[in-house]
Amino acid sequence: MDYPCSKDIVAKVTEVGSLPQTLAAVLKVINNPDSAADQIAEVISRDVSLTTRVLRMVNSAQFGRKRKVTKVSEAVIIMGINSIKVLTLSSSVFGMVTDKDLFKRCNIKRIWRHLIETASSARSIAVEIKYKEPEEAFVAGILHDLGIILMLLYYREGYLEVMEKMTVDKEGIEAAERNIFGLTHSEVGAAMTGGWKLPSNLTYVVQNHHSLSTGIMPEEAALNNIIALADRMTIGPFDNYSPDIEKNIEFIQSACRSLNLSNDAVNRIRKESILESIKLAEYLDLDIGDILEILTEANDKLAELYFSLERIYIEKRNLQSQLNGAVTETVA
Ligand SMILES: [Fe+2]
Ligand SMILES: [Fe+2]
Repeated sequence: MDYPCSKDIVAKVTEVGSLPQTLAAVLKVINNPDSAADQIAEVISRDVSLTTRVLRMVNSAQFGRKRKVTKVSEAVIIMGINSIKVLTLSSSVFGMVTDKDLFKRCNIKRIWRHLIETASSARSIAVEIKYKEPEEAFVAGILHDLGIILMLLYYREGYLEVMEKMTVDKEGIEAAERNIFGLTHSEVGAAMTGGWKLPSNLTYVVQNHHSLSTGIMPEEAALNNIIALADRMTIGPFDNYSPDIEKNIEFIQSACRSLNLSNDAVNRIRKESILESIKLAEYLDLDIGDILEILTEANDKLAELYFSLERIYIEKRNLQSQLNGAVTETVA
């Protein structure tokens, strides 16, 4: 099947995908330093589902309130501006998909889980390395694969073909996207966030999260490497970034070095992020699967990884003994 050229795709998604109304209004009022909690609460109260989520979150164990909070203005004060921003943005991104056809034909649950886990791991990495704004890392995690959601919404048949190529032919995500559309989800997502006029470091991450920013580490590069690492740590529908497992391991190691992060810290964050994601999904009213389902999938992935590494090890050992044999023969 023929799909439109990359320029037309960018033009179409940026035209149809305007910034969700509630998000635009909340960001506007939050970004104004003179806004009071009452004004922020007033904007939130116009959206019933966001109001429900805010009240559910403020009454959760995380905020440890003895008395039930029923007023949004009180919730805004207790939760703080950053948590409100995160909750509004997450609700807006997940709220973009309501179409039942997409739920039937594609494993949306795994995509949601990937976004939430990436965001939650990114926030923990940011805290660990003392990055200035951990909530910004969370927001970037939710947004990083926005291009995939847009492609599934507006170029569904082609994108399902991309996903099939990744699963059946084990093609890397960006190669499969380029083959079919001539551009990647990172480019589509960045065109969109650029148009939304979000801070430029978020657009930079959406555009570059499949590679590491090297050299001196300005804040933008650090944020990008946090997301690049969190993205690869999570189990998503797009695990085969590169069919070469050794390259994936090297990538993770380089990301850790660039962020000065130990392997132990990465393992701990990985485990914690699974539980945190389940909690977050509850506040957002999202189905990402239960703990048993998630752990079973994580175990399957680990087993797959173990067997791939074992195969690589055996291949290398055989090659080494062949080389040793050849050297001995030459010497003799
Ligand atoms: Fe991505
Ligand atoms: Fe991703």
